[in-house]
Amino acid sequence: MSLVCLMDFQAQARERLSKSSWDFIDGGADESITRDDNIAALRKIRLRPRYLRNVSEVDTRTTIQGEEISAPICISPTAFHCITWPDGEMSTARAAQAANICYITSTYSSCALEDIVATAPRGLRWFQLYVQSDWELNKQLIQRVESLGFKALVITVDAPVIGKRRQDIRNQLDLQKNLMLKDLQSPTERNSAPCVQLDPISSSFCWNKLSWLQSITRLPIILKGILTKEDAELAVKHNVQGIIVSNHGGRQLDEVLASIDALPEVVAAVNGKFEVYLDGGIRTGNDVLKALALGAKCIFLGRPILWGLACKGERGVQEVLNILKSEFHTSMSLAGCRSVSEINRDLIQFSRL
Ligand code: FNR
Repeated sequence: MSLVCLMDFQAQARERLSKSSWDFIDGGADESITRDDNIAALRKIRLRPRYLRNVSEVDTRTTIQGEEISAPICISPTAFHCITWPDGEMSTARAAQAANICYITSTYSSCALEDIVATAPRGLRWFQLYVQSDWELNKQLIQRVESLGFKALVITVDAPVIGKRRQDIRNQLDLQKNLMLKDLQSPTERNSAPCVQLDPISSSFCWNKLSWLQSITRLPIILKGILTKEDAELAVKHNVQGIIVSNHGGRQLDEVLASIDALPEVVAAVNGKFEVYLDGGIRTGNDVLKALALGAKCIFLGRPILWGLACKGERGVQEVLNILKSEFHTSMSLAGCRSVSEINRDLIQFSRL
């Protein structure tokens, strides 16, 4: 089968992976209502294109946190890439470097950070931190990440506990048995001990502890998982450098707003103080266009990257990124946008929303 859109990769990945691996990637929390809503809400939005503009040259480049990327299409943090491809995150990192976009590496990577950096030394990387209950461990991780050249810390705020994913329970999925969490081990343990506890995320981390994190790092801090104007206002007050509007791909609290529906109120509350990004349900070039029109500086992909990995490893991730970039280029051309700075709210038909 030729793979021409991201959903083709989804179908092929499903065939290639074991049932329990597929279910782990695909699953949402509880009834998976938000997971499905992320996609459905994007599909409801209609566009207002402008014609008779010269679109013979369309430029998809933009910047995030001051760094240039080839298109506003980057990679969300997802855990355990080795489930889908033998050298997991290393393939992802090489594909991201080749595409000249940003890859957010998860705390729960199955490859060591040092190996991920060594295989793609020129790539733009941010590190996603699940704040651990052990403060010393947080400090060590942040220092390692800084010295390895990661350019931002992405703090995931929507996982004080892990959402209930029914299929994983039915499949008796035990990732700890098969995978090493190398980044949560001390340097001496890293080469010997089999694995560490999978669930050491701090459920007591809150706004007043954010300043402690800010005091021990020079990196910009980006909060991932904010969905309301109230929290966006607090983020402004706490001097963070960015927000990723996200509901964790519908894997945490079910029945929250679709990411695209939460975006406008967060963008309004932030009022240009820092960049706002989005992930959740982005599958087509039009989806990227819609997210940017509603105020996102860039979008991030979760599951589609894992589908690419499962199908063809590094080449699969490259193809997923290239397909979406090319679709976005076409969407911009057809909507009359020559550069990402020309994408704005006038593109959205609000009366139907
Ligand atoms: C995730 N996500 C996630 N988020 C995070 O901050 N740290 C993590 O380790 C993970 N791990 C993870 C594993 C898997 C299998 C999935 C599907 C998702 C959430 C992820 O970053 C992102 O928010 C969503 O995946 C975006 O939605 P789409 O693109 O998958 O629809």
